[in-house]
Amino acid sequence: MRKDYKRYTITSALPYANGPLHIGHIAGAYLPADIYVRYLRSKQKDVLYVCGSDEHGAAITIKAKKESTTPQAIIDKYHELNKSTFEKFGISFDIYHRTSAKIHHETSQGFFTNLYEKGEFEEIESEQFYDEEYKQFLADRYVTGTCPKCGHDSAYGDQCEKCGSSLSPTDLINPVSTLSGKTPVLKTTKHWFLPLDKYQPWLEEWLIEGKKGEWKSNVYGQCSSWLKEGLQPRAMTRDLDWGVDVPLKEAVGKKLYVWLDAPIGYISATKQWAIDNGKNWEDYWKKHDNEEDDACLIHFIGKDNIVFHCIIFPSILHAHGGYILPENVPANEFLNLEGEKLSTSRNWAVWLDKYLEDFPGKEDVLRYVLCATAPETKDNDFTWKDYQTRNNSELVAILGNFVNRAVVLTHKFFEGKVPQAGALEAIDTQTLEELKQFPDKIAESIEKFRFREALSYVMDLARLGNKYLADTEPWKVIKTDQERTATILNIGLQIAASLSIVAAPFLPRTSEKLGKLLNVDVSDWDNAGSDTLLVAENAINEATLLFDKIEDEEIQKQIDKLKKPVTVEAKEVTPQKEEIAFDDFLKMDIRVGTILEAEAVPKSNKLLKFLVDTGMDKRTILSGIAKHYSPEEMIGKQVTILANLAPRKIMGVESQGMILMAENKDGSLKLLQPNDLADNGAMVS
Ligand code: MF3
Ligand code: ZN
Repeated sequence: MRKDYKRYTITSALPYANGPLHIGHIAGAYLPADIYVRYLRSKQKDVLYVCGSDEHGAAITIKAKKESTTPQAIIDKYHELNKSTFEKFGISFDIYHRTSAKIHHETSQGFFTNLYEKGEFEEIESEQFYDEEYKQFLADRYVTGTCPKCGHDSAYGDQCEKCGSSLSPTDLINPVSTLSGKTPVLKTTKHWFLPLDKYQPWLEEWLIEGKKGEWKSNVYGQCSSWLKEGLQPRAMTRDLDWGVDVPLKEAVGKKLYVWLDAPIGYISATKQWAIDNGKNWEDYWKKHDNEEDDACLIHFIGKDNIVFHCIIFPSILHAHGGYILPENVPANEFLNLEGEKLSTSRNWAVWLDKYLEDFPGKEDVLRYVLCATAPETKDNDFTWKDYQTRNNSELVAILGNFVNRAVVLTHKFFEGKVPQAGALEAIDTQTLEELKQFPDKIAESIEKFRFREALSYVMDLARLGNKYLADTEPWKVIKTDQERTATILNIGLQIAASLSIVAAPFLPRTSEKLGKLLNVDVSDWDNAGSDTLLVAENAINEATLLFDKIEDEEIQKQIDKLKKPVTVEAKEVTPQKEEIAFDDFLKMDIRVGTILEAEAVPKSNKLLKFLVDTGMDKRTILSGIAKHYSPEEMIGKQVTILANLAPRKIMGVESQGMILMAENKDGSLKLLQPNDLADNGAMVS
């Protein structure tokens, strides 16, 4: 990678708009990119940072099916949620676009047409898995099975997430349709294939020769092993009903492969941004006559996306021609949580939106911890205890403490004005000499994508400040030598001012606070390290705490949230009743109602009397649950009722239905409620 570029085009993987974001996403593709981008901006570079929602592919349609809703409803919901979560977390995209946008459909179809007209595609009729029950071809994630490479038992049809292999559905051992759960059959269909085998020699040269020693070894290693195995043509179209239409008359009903359209999303996002901001998108994507004018393209991703960004997308750009290629793809490994793989389906995750609710104003703490433990070279673990320790003994005790001391003492001894430095002693010149080295040292690590290392240097700078104050003891010196104290605090404040600049990419909100506190502009990297960043006699503001201690209880709450669901096994089970016909079942009118009023029935210790809104009417129902539920706690609850049970008089009151309960062997009763609020009168079937 060259040292200097005029322009940078930085991308973070477009997350599927099929669910909320968790710490694994952030640690992999977003936080490192954001740090890098904020650093470049601070170096006054022309940088564009694009991202957006990936709204096609089976990830979306499968989720819609699970939630009995439409793909459109799913993407609208999660696009907005994720967009705002990123924003709150300080991920500073220049645009957060979406692949459902018209400009994206046109741009990706344009790529397809360009390649088609050049005759790049191989048209191949092949046998693909087909679900006979659902009458649908099963591309990619619609089929799961055992990975032929590593034996992982729930690999997807396009990829094994365990070993990272890129697969075809027919590679899977024991394939199963995710729609019907049945073994699919094979059926012939025609698709347009990208001849990756044809690009292999070019990839060998561009990637294997060109990126050796430049790219991270985890990324380079994966790529070279695919190339060693030999690349196969890969279908760029799918038989699906959700996605970008294939722009060919003979391909009605077919869609572009999501991994063809999604990375092109980076380009369409750029186009939209350029329209909105009066820029030229081509500056950020096209090759220029003079190579020096080309932008530097960098993709930040997680390791499961390596093949798509290092082999397939570059091949597409190359086949199209005229486009720049990625200079680097600094993919991260995976982040685990408390020793286990993050899992959406098992709810084993720390969800960003929930974190921001539980820890308002503490986005920088999580940024700090996720950067300090980032899975840069191998999988890594996030634990809540470590989160607490890093907050309390690093952010609070080192960074916060140093800044606070320098600011408080300045107020105490110099009325909140930056004191004038006088004659320097050896410890001063030595400290200032060290201070001067930091910005370049941190920058070098950032430029090499070593963000953990860079962050540790930022903390070393705070340590330097603490040590300097501890060694010079201004709180003692003030008693005898005001001039010397002035010099010490001047230097202390200069260190704090530099910190506000070099910490900015990592901890943007904190840096902003610190900048305001000291009245320094935190946006110019090249000012950091100077011993005259703060001008003597200028006022600083009253100290505010940058971080505060996080107590055990708060951490315990988070750990408790992670507890796996417990199922209680019955000791003794009542045998199944005699079989009934479906019609017998249909005769029962079971529906949802809401308890409006509840009271005890006089002279009965078992019965409660309820007024229930059944959607059809408001009626009285008696229930023998007084030992298990109080009238007060029942009011407002939704219940399920058997509505067409013949009315019965109990203790002189007529009950017009029955409230349904689960009865444990020990006789205790548990109310049956809809999992989410349902309409009153909703039928249970
Ligand atoms: N949606 C994909 C995922 O979450 C990433 C898409 S990256 C892009 O794994 F390049 F295709 F946009
Ligand atoms: Zn595998």
